[in-house]
Amino acid sequence: MHMHKFEKAWLIFGIGSLLVFLTVLGVSAFYLGNQPPSCLATIDPEKVDTTAPFNEPGLKKVEGKDWDYELVYVASAFSYSPAEVEIPYGAKVKIIATTKDVVHGFEVAGSNINMMLEPGYISEHVTTFDKTGEYLIVCNEYCGVGHHMMSSKIKVVE
Ligand code: CUA
Repeated sequence: MHMHKFEKAWLIFGIGSLLVFLTVLGVSAFYLGNQPPSCLATIDPEKVDTTAPFNEPGLKKVEGKDWDYELVYVASAFSYSPAEVEIPYGAKVKIIATTKDVVHGFEVAGSNINMMLEPGYISEHVTTFDKTGEYLIVCNEYCGVGHHMMSSKIKVVE
C-alpha cells in the first residue's frame, strides 16, 4: 500500500501523541495514585447535624495532619454555616463540606476552589490562604428561589 510521506508522518504523530497521553495518565493514576477529588466519603444527609465533624461547623485547629486547620461547612437552602470565618494568614486549611438538602455549589471567588456539594457526599479541598483579605463564597449550582442570596465569607487576617 502506498502512503504519502506526510500522511505517514501525521499517523506517527497521532499514534505517538496517544501513547504519550496514555502513559502520562497511567503514571498519574497508578504510580502517583491521583484520583478524582471529593465524593469519596459519604454521609447520611438526614443526619448531617448530628454527624461529626458537621455537628460543629467552623474552623478548628488540628494536630498531626498535613494541614493546620479544618474548616467545616454545612450548606442548606439558602445559606452556609458558618456564615463568616476568620483564618490566619498562611494557614494550610482542609475545607470539608456537605449539604443537607439539594445540590449546592461552593466556589471561593478569585481562587481555584470550586466544589459541588451533593446530598450524601462529602467534598474536600486542601488549600493555603497566602493572601490577606476577604474571600466570597458563592453557590454556583441553581438550588431554588434563594440561590442568588446564598453566600459566605472567609476573612484572611494577619
Ligand atoms: Cu445553593 Cu444555589
